[in-house]
Amino acid sequence: MNQEQPVISVTRVSRAFGSKTVLKDISLQVNRAETFGLLGPSGSGKTTLVKLLTGIDEVSSGEVQVMGVRMPKLTMLQQIGYMAQSDALYTELSAKENLEFFAALYGLRGGNRTRRIGDVMELVNLQEHLRKRVDQYSGGMKRRLSLAIALLHEPPLLILDEPTVGIDPLLRQSIWKELRSLNNQGTTIVLTTHVMDEAEKCDRLGMIRDGKLLAADTPAGLMQATGSATIEEAFVTYGGGRK
Ligand SMILES: Nc1ncnc2c1ncn2[C@@H]1O[C@H](COP(=O)(O)OP(=O)(O)OP(=O)(O)O)[C@@H](O)[C@H]1O
Ligand SMILES: [Mg+2]
Repeated sequence: MNQEQPVISVTRVSRAFGSKTVLKDISLQVNRAETFGLLGPSGSGKTTLVKLLTGIDEVSSGEVQVMGVRMPKLTMLQQIGYMAQSDALYTELSAKENLEFFAALYGLRGGNRTRRIGDVMELVNLQEHLRKRVDQYSGGMKRRLSLAIALLHEPPLLILDEPTVGIDPLLRQSIWKELRSLNNQGTTIVLTTHVMDEAEKCDRLGMIRDGKLLAADTPAGLMQATGSATIEEAFVTYGGGRK
């Protein structure tokens, strides 16, 4: 891949479900090793947009490219670590069996597989619960396992839909530390969040409201453009608050 080329390129994308247009003419680029946050009120279209980026869903018009490849494209699965908003886990299986299933999907084998499973479970602090069935996990534990799965194959692009919901503050800190470190090694990260102190940690933020991308800029740039002292204030100016 050309290093100069954006990792994600969204061009005039719309997505409609029946007569309801949920995303409207969105254009956006995310560069290599950026942490890009999507911010917007509930129902504004964040999850719909990230599903288009992963190739789980398809645009109604416009185009999404990831690493120069037009999405959706099954082979891009190897390049992307996706953490969905609602956990996609096999609850009747143990965490280990879930991880092994995804490892097989990504072609991880042998010692490498064992090492990666150990590493990601340590990162989300679940190493003692590896053999527990997922239906015995708490909500936060399931979120953490979902994150572990997204990180398993060391993908160059991480797409995380509200990754830290239900995760306690201490662990959230260590997860952010890890995301930062991956970022420094060149991993590109797109995430959605409702948490302002997480939004502030992003290199750039996209503000979505009613399916439209109102602005995409650094946190400082957004605060300046709206004359706000905090990101929360900028968020409210861009149409946040309660719907
Ligand atoms: N498959 C679908 N069929 C019809 N409408 C849908 C579908 N998926 C999403 N929508 C609608 O699209 C809009 C945007 O939903 P989306 O899940 O993208 O919002 P969001 O910004 O992720 O919200 P939240 O912060 O609550 O997660 C909502 O009005 C939702 O009802
Ligand atoms: Mg969502």
